[in-house]
Amino acid sequence: MPITAGVIGCGNISRFHFSGLEKAGARVKWVCDLNEATARPWADKFGARYTADYRDVIADDEVNLVDVTSYSSAHKEICLAAIAAAKPVVCEKTLATSADDALEIVQAAETAGTIFYTSYMKRFIPAVEQAKALLPSLGTLVSTYIRAYQPWGDLWDAAPAEGFLAVGPDGTSVLRKLYGGGILVCGGSHILDLVCFFLGRPRRLFAHMHWPEGGDYDVQAAALLETDNGVVHYEALAHPLTGIGFLRDGWDERIEINGRKGRLDIYSSLWDDPEHKASLLVHYDNATGQATEYRYPAVSPFDRALAFFCCNIERGEQGAQSRLTGYDVDELIAHIELSARTGEAVNVNWRI
Ligand SMILES: NC(=O)c1ccc[n+]([C@@H]2O[C@H](COP(=O)([O-])OP(=O)(O)OC[C@H]3O[C@@H](n4cnc5c(N)ncnc54)[C@H](O)[C@@H]3O)[C@@H](O)[C@H]2O)c1
Repeated sequence: MPITAGVIGCGNISRFHFSGLEKAGARVKWVCDLNEATARPWADKFGARYTADYRDVIADDEVNLVDVTSYSSAHKEICLAAIAAAKPVVCEKTLATSADDALEIVQAAETAGTIFYTSYMKRFIPAVEQAKALLPSLGTLVSTYIRAYQPWGDLWDAAPAEGFLAVGPDGTSVLRKLYGGGILVCGGSHILDLVCFFLGRPRRLFAHMHWPEGGDYDVQAAALLETDNGVVHYEALAHPLTGIGFLRDGWDERIEINGRKGRLDIYSSLWDDPEHKASLLVHYDNATGQATEYRYPAVSPFDRALAFFCCNIERGEQGAQSRLTGYDVDELIAHIELSARTGEAVNVNWRI
């Protein structure tokens, strides 16, 4: 059945979802946001109906895709309502602001058999897809280095007194209230998803985090994770350097996977400018001594992700991506925080 979508949350990230839905040939019937001024341009562009109440979208019999792009603290209520109405869901990451909430959502989707995706779109970066296809050629995997360094400014010592990152009178920053945390949740969640994508669920980890004085969010999360496919050295860092990374734009996101027969290096570029900044893959083959570079035209991984989700929903299938991906990441985030706060290595308690 062709896709009739309702997009709930029309802020910053929604433009990538609107682009993906349009390119996938979906009809956008509803746009929903608490703030009408934010949603109105999208309603006009698509000839869609506007509502401030997400329940209007879910109640529409014609809607067969609920695309949740509100901030993360609003995901749980909307996702559970959509699942209860048997509507397929695509939800932005992170799925929830706690592992318990993420578990509740995916359990509901599993029980109902609803098609359900957390949109970790970096799986759809061409360099990442190609690396996954080349993974078996590395033989036994030994170690992986994976990092996301993002230029947030110099936040190491103290939280700013004003703005998004400042702790308000209720003891919480806007960042934590809306997104659930700092760099671990924001940039670090994507690379935890890629750890699961490439290597499977980690079974044990040991972590270190840094919270600035007076801040309720982290600016560094580093961990060693044990998987069935070798050890992972992981780090998410909010840093002040504006010129590092392979494009020298301050975005230093890299994955290096080492196997007995070769190595893969992935350099992924800033999500905010996907139409201009492409990613890069280098494959080293021990047998031939060759290094092969794969360069791709700049394409939006959001477009590719939405195409995949829409195609599966049209067929009525969950397809190759499990319902659990958003839970997997939120559970790892909880365990990294636990290990960093206690100073102990922890076994990951997978609850589903
Ligand atoms: N994939 C990525 O790389 C990436 C990057 C940035 C943000 N994100 C994620 O995207 C999501 C949205 O982030 P953003 O930066 O666009 O936030 P934003 O604050 O710019 O937009 C969120 C919008 O949701 C609306 N909203 C909130 N609750 C609502 C509700 N109950 N009903 C209707 N509308 C509601 C708000 O009014 C706001 O306009 C978050 O989950 C965030 O973590 C993903």
